[in-house]
Amino acid sequence: MPEDLPQRVRTVWWEEDEKSATVVLLDQSLLPQQVVYLHLKDEEQVADAIKTLKVRGAPAIGVTAAFGMALALYRLQREAAERGEALTLDQAHAHLLAAGHLLGLTRPTAVNLFWAIERMQRRADQLVGQGCGVEELGRALRTEAQAIADEDFAACQRMGEYGAALIADGDTLLTHCNAGALATAGWGTALAPMYVASRAGKQIHVFVDETRPILQGARLTAWELQQEGIPLTLITDNMAGHFMHHGGIKAVFVGADRIAANGDVANKIGTYSVAVLARAHNIPFYVVAPCSTVDLSLPSGEHIPIEQRNPEEVTRVRDAQVAPVGVNVANPAFDVTPHTYVTAIITEKGIARPPYEVTLRQIFRDEHDS
Ligand code: MRU
Repeated sequence: MPEDLPQRVRTVWWEEDEKSATVVLLDQSLLPQQVVYLHLKDEEQVADAIKTLKVRGAPAIGVTAAFGMALALYRLQREAAERGEALTLDQAHAHLLAAGHLLGLTRPTAVNLFWAIERMQRRADQLVGQGCGVEELGRALRTEAQAIADEDFAACQRMGEYGAALIADGDTLLTHCNAGALATAGWGTALAPMYVASRAGKQIHVFVDETRPILQGARLTAWELQQEGIPLTLITDNMAGHFMHHGGIKAVFVGADRIAANGDVANKIGTYSVAVLARAHNIPFYVVAPCSTVDLSLPSGEHIPIEQRNPEEVTRVRDAQVAPVGVNVANPAFDVTPHTYVTAIITEKGIARPPYEVTLRQIFRDEHDS
């Protein structure tokens, strides 16, 4: 794990000694009241942690799923060894397929999850095709999962540098949901430019949407910006227009869960409204996301699957019931912002501007050429 990320905002990592291995997660469902680290022992626990938002944010769930697959094989090997049995390569391979399937059922929208599972699966297929040993397969998968985490850390740094160039000293910015360190294995996506700008000595102020229904802005973004000492103002989601009109907001930075080939962006519910407000006030609307969030197989955002979550997230605020019992509720976790509202998409490979069907493909071509 990179040294320069403070322990308190480290989201997920692998821990191993001679006897055991665990995936360690900062339990985000308890923040900011409690800072608790979970030590997950098998892929079922990892899948449950993703489903119940103990870990959340598109890049972070991809990294977690990759570690989850490595853990699945580690556990199977360990159990076989305890019984004095040797695992066959076929058993190991089949188990990995099943683990990937289980992890893929957790959350449908963030494409980073499927990207990471498929990358782990491809590495396994490659090694199995070469007739490797089971021990070697296990080691290679741990290395691959760590590479996914390390690449995400590096991508955050690059996105931070590209994005910080768009922030001037004295700027007031607005963000929605949490697309910071807690949502990645590094400094974050949308918050990374703020961290880089602030560490370079630029004075910034961030308006943070609380992000109903489950308050990732209030609970997570406010907490992690506070940890870094970046001045912020927490607002309810319905205050964004007011502060765009009166608060001197110079730019909006948000993350993404999936970006279609035409630049349509799925992100936390409410992002679309923020984008429309930004356009009405002539404020640039920047989306910050790594290439692992871009899904060129989908021509437009209409094809992005939107997660529907438990109605209780809307009828209750934490333990308090706030709506009449039995009321009809809708709770889509994400919305799609049409590309026409997006000023630029900041990736680790550079900044894409319209027309996105051309510029996003260009970024991918450059990635594969390099
Ligand atoms: O439901 P969540 O908390 O996983 O939603 C997270 C978001 O919508 C983030 O903005 C997105 O994943 C980008 S994270 C760098």
